[in-house]
Amino acid sequence: MRILVTGGAGFIGSNIVDAYIEAGHEVAIIDNMSSGKEENVNPRARLYKMDIRSPELDLVFAKEKPEVLNHHAAQIDVRKSVDDPVFDANVNIVGMLGLLQASVKHGVEKVIFASSGGAIYGEPQVLPAGEQTALDPLAPYGVAKVAGEFYLSCYHALHGLNYTALRYGNIYGPRQDPHGEAGVIAIFCESMLSDREVKIFGTGEQLRDYVYVGDVVAANVLALEKGDGARVNIGTRKGTSVNELFVILKEVLGYGKDAVNYPPRHGELEKTYLDDALAIEVLGWKAQVGIERGLEQTAAFFRDR
Ligand SMILES: NC(=O)c1ccc[n+]([C@@H]2O[C@H](COP(=O)([O-])OP(=O)(O)OC[C@H]3O[C@@H](n4cnc5c(N)ncnc54)[C@H](O)[C@@H]3O)[C@@H](O)[C@H]2O)c1
Repeated sequence: MRILVTGGAGFIGSNIVDAYIEAGHEVAIIDNMSSGKEENVNPRARLYKMDIRSPELDLVFAKEKPEVLNHHAAQIDVRKSVDDPVFDANVNIVGMLGLLQASVKHGVEKVIFASSGGAIYGEPQVLPAGEQTALDPLAPYGVAKVAGEFYLSCYHALHGLNYTALRYGNIYGPRQDPHGEAGVIAIFCESMLSDREVKIFGTGEQLRDYVYVGDVVAANVLALEKGDGARVNIGTRKGTSVNELFVILKEVLGYGKDAVNYPPRHGELEKTYLDDALAIEVLGWKAQVGIERGLEQTAAFFRDR
């Protein structure tokens, strides 16, 4: 297949590009390199260093004629979305709309969209949160993800454009940086490796659904063929606390100090983790990498770097 991956120089997108190329697909990338890195870019992919909002977008679609658009480019910082919601909406809503318009014009068959199960449900009343949980985003970042999902179903109804929206938990693993939704893992690794203080905000008992990036890549491979018209959680059904992350990484990296507790951060969710039943049913996907092994592999990446 010919696949266009936006954000393909970033953490999750670049891991997906590698897997698509490995599977024999032809891949082009659009990335403005705002957080993407040259060293992440697979040399067998064609890289267009440009913004998804660029007027040149049309030329890329005309040239590459993608059958699938895999959309991972985004303003990913939840706190930045609170500080500057107009910028967030510009990239995450208007930028996505431009991509959908180009997709319809140039005959894209399917869009795979990186949504967020961590951001669209707010503080779920029932855990694990299934896809039927009320949508109640608490930050503009989550509002934009919800909007993206509704644009997808709207474009399907209006233009027949097929899609799968993958509602990720907190994704961690090699190439991650401190700004994403699972940034705490990168921050802990970097602090421990340089023997700095490790800060825990609040009690450290906040629960999140940490999903290893290799499992997320597998979901994106499966979504090429399956999950049509679905909005599906990509989670493990299990919450892990910040304190548990600290204990595992301390052991893996041989860190000698205790964590230091700081006051809780305003607006932070208490507990969220995701039901995976629909992913099993419609994608045949289930997380394979447990948190211990995933953290070992992530810690090894930061150590080697
Ligand atoms: N990391 C997580 O835990 C998580 C959870 C839920 C959803 N997501 C979503 O997954 C996607 C990838 O996130 P990530 O963690 O890999 O982040 P990332 O910052 O590593 O990747 C985003 C990529 O998009 C590029 N980009 C940003 N704005 C752009 C623009 N205007 N035009 C072109 N390229 C642009 C960046 O340079 C970067 O390479 C995002 O849509 C994010 O919202 C991530």
